[in-house]
Amino acid sequence: MHSLPKGLKAQHHSAIAVSRALASPGIILSIFLLGVLLSLGFRKNLTDKDGHPIPPGPPLRYPFLPKYPERILHRWRNQYGPIFSVWMGNQLFVVLNDPVVARDLLVVNGSNFSSRHNYFMKNQTILQGGAITATPYNDTWRKHRRIANSILAPRAVEGYSATLDYEAHMLIKSLYHDTEKGAIPVNPARYAGRYVLNNMLSVTFGSRTGSVADPIIKRALPLGNEFMKLTGPWSNAVDFITPLQWLPTSTRSRGRALRKEFLEVYGTLINIVKDRMASGESVPDCLVKSLLECQDQEELSWTDMCLLTTAFATGGSHSTSGTIQWFLAFMPSHPEIQAKAHEELDRVLGRENWPTAEDEKRLPYIRAIIKEVLRCHSPFWMATPHASDRDFVYRGMYIPAKTVMMLNCYSLHHNEERYQDPFNFNPDRYLEDNLSSTESSKLADAMKRDHWAFGAGRRICPGMPIAEKEIFLAVSRLLWAFKIQPVAGEPPCLDEYEGYSGRTPLPFRVNLEPRHEQVHRVLGTRDEIPGSFELADEFLGH
Ligand code: HEM
Ligand SMILES: *[C@@H]1O[C@H](CO)[C@@H](O)[C@H](O)[C@H]1NC(C)=O
Ligand SMILES: *[C@@H]1O[C@H](CO)[C@@H](O)[C@H](O)[C@H]1NC(C)=O
Ligand SMILES: *[C@@H]1O[C@H](CO)[C@@H](O)[C@H](O)[C@H]1NC(C)=O
Ligand SMILES: *[C@@H]1O[C@H](CO)[C@@H](O)[C@H](O)[C@H]1NC(C)=O
Ligand SMILES: *[C@@H]1O[C@H](CO)[C@@H](O)[C@H](O)[C@H]1NC(C)=O
Repeated sequence: MHSLPKGLKAQHHSAIAVSRALASPGIILSIFLLGVLLSLGFRKNLTDKDGHPIPPGPPLRYPFLPKYPERILHRWRNQYGPIFSVWMGNQLFVVLNDPVVARDLLVVNGSNFSSRHNYFMKNQTILQGGAITATPYNDTWRKHRRIANSILAPRAVEGYSATLDYEAHMLIKSLYHDTEKGAIPVNPARYAGRYVLNNMLSVTFGSRTGSVADPIIKRALPLGNEFMKLTGPWSNAVDFITPLQWLPTSTRSRGRALRKEFLEVYGTLINIVKDRMASGESVPDCLVKSLLECQDQEELSWTDMCLLTTAFATGGSHSTSGTIQWFLAFMPSHPEIQAKAHEELDRVLGRENWPTAEDEKRLPYIRAIIKEVLRCHSPFWMATPHASDRDFVYRGMYIPAKTVMMLNCYSLHHNEERYQDPFNFNPDRYLEDNLSSTESSKLADAMKRDHWAFGAGRRICPGMPIAEKEIFLAVSRLLWAFKIQPVAGEPPCLDEYEGYSGRTPLPFRVNLEPRHEQVHRVLGTRDEIPGSFELADEFLGH
């Protein structure tokens, strides 16, 4: 009886997918695609030599999933349970929906599940095994990952404290002045974008906007957006239907052009730092300087250097600015949460001083808000898929080598056993949690981990410490300075979002009302340089 609705539902999704395919790459391609689809439309139920079946899953194969794929995954999770499988063209995906399953496979058995899939767009066309994220689980990955860890580790991040502190100051100050002390509503996107951009430029290249490198930085910024558009984990039919890869599609040529741009533009930016160092200028500590210093010893090729720099510059920018935007989008409808945060700030710090990075541990409620924003609005609902290296049997189910392992953060974050009333925004659930996300990810009990927004296992995001610090400084100071109020008749939309692979809210406005007299004292004069909006717009893709 219950197999009927299953099939119907799946056919419905597939119809959406097909109609999208027909609309986009042109008629000839679509007819071709339809032929391909008809020839391999149904799932293949593999078994291993001992008769273990692959995890259950939907009966059809898909060329890609439509926008908001997490909603489909969540329905499949409700239907098929904690682990299911789905065929994308000829590629098998296993989707992990439960904290214990995710930890068993990606963490405990991490040596089997830490590779990457050879995506046509992301790997074969654009990164070609580079930028850490596309490197298979081999010694080159270990080396690049070690370098990244050393320059993104908490101790290294300490070295950027002054920069992050300054940029957070500029963020709040410019919001205060540009809104005429709360009189005019503001769309915070460009402010969050410029904040993260200045941080990224300082930390990666040792310069911020307003430097001689601006023209080339301007060329670099749209590349991050283009990369996200072209590399969603299941947004491209060309990734899953091999014959499409032989055709000169616009997707393919955009991918090729992007690789060329990445190497050229990031190569030029590295050379600017190199020239500054050669001319005896004291270049501030930054990721590119560290790379240049270890280049010979680590035997890094020029392509390695360019792509590692690309990873640092684009890996964490939209995710971090998106998280700050989601925080601001939540606040107008949650005055009671703001009141609690304001109470905590007044009690712990008083109004004379605003929060600094050292205060993080003393502000558990603010940290709880940040964890809750990342739980409710993770920038990547599907993290970055891992891939399996070897055949594996788990709970009697067969996971073949070269299966793509998908961490379903959306279902993990809406698990009723782990999070009471999971669709409700409620920071209180994290009040007992005094761990940073980095610390939390190491807990032995997967049910206690805060959230999965940074991925899991050996590939977990190496940028966590710096991302957490940037977000903390922005969020805690926004709360210290302002009551974040709705604009009449314009509630921020909390369901829809932009982007296939990195998610940011649709444009919205808020009123930022200064909370007390000390705000005017701290932010009173307009004497420093917040940096360029023009570049922030490029970065955001506006
Ligand atoms: C809120 C901010 C951020 C979020 C939500 C985030 C999320 C993620 C996720 C989900 C992954 C995939 C993990 C996995 O495969 O299991 C990842 C990987 C990665 N992230 Fe982040 N990230 C953020 C910020 C950053 C920053 C600031 C940087 C660098 C400065 C960065 C650099 C990287 C790199 C290089 C990888 C690839 C790691 C590998 O494949 O071994 N991320 N990130
Ligand atoms: C994988 O993880 C499970 C669960 O933690 C563990 O029992 C098992 O021994 C591991 N499998 C292998 C092959 O190591
Ligand atoms: C998977 O990883 C475990 C733990 O590292 C290892 O002992 C085991 O041999 C691997 N399993 C397979 C099937 O290769
Ligand atoms: C990605 O592409 C490179 C070169 O094109 C290849 O050597 C590598 O094996 C691919 N990565 C994966 C995970 O298969
Ligand atoms: C690891 O994989 C990359 C990408 O395919 C390749 O270029 C590199 O040579 C491999 N490294 C080792 C040590 O096998
Ligand atoms: C967090 O709190 C627990 C008890 O609630 C305590 O044992 C632990 O040391 C604390 N950890 C940190 C990092 O403060």
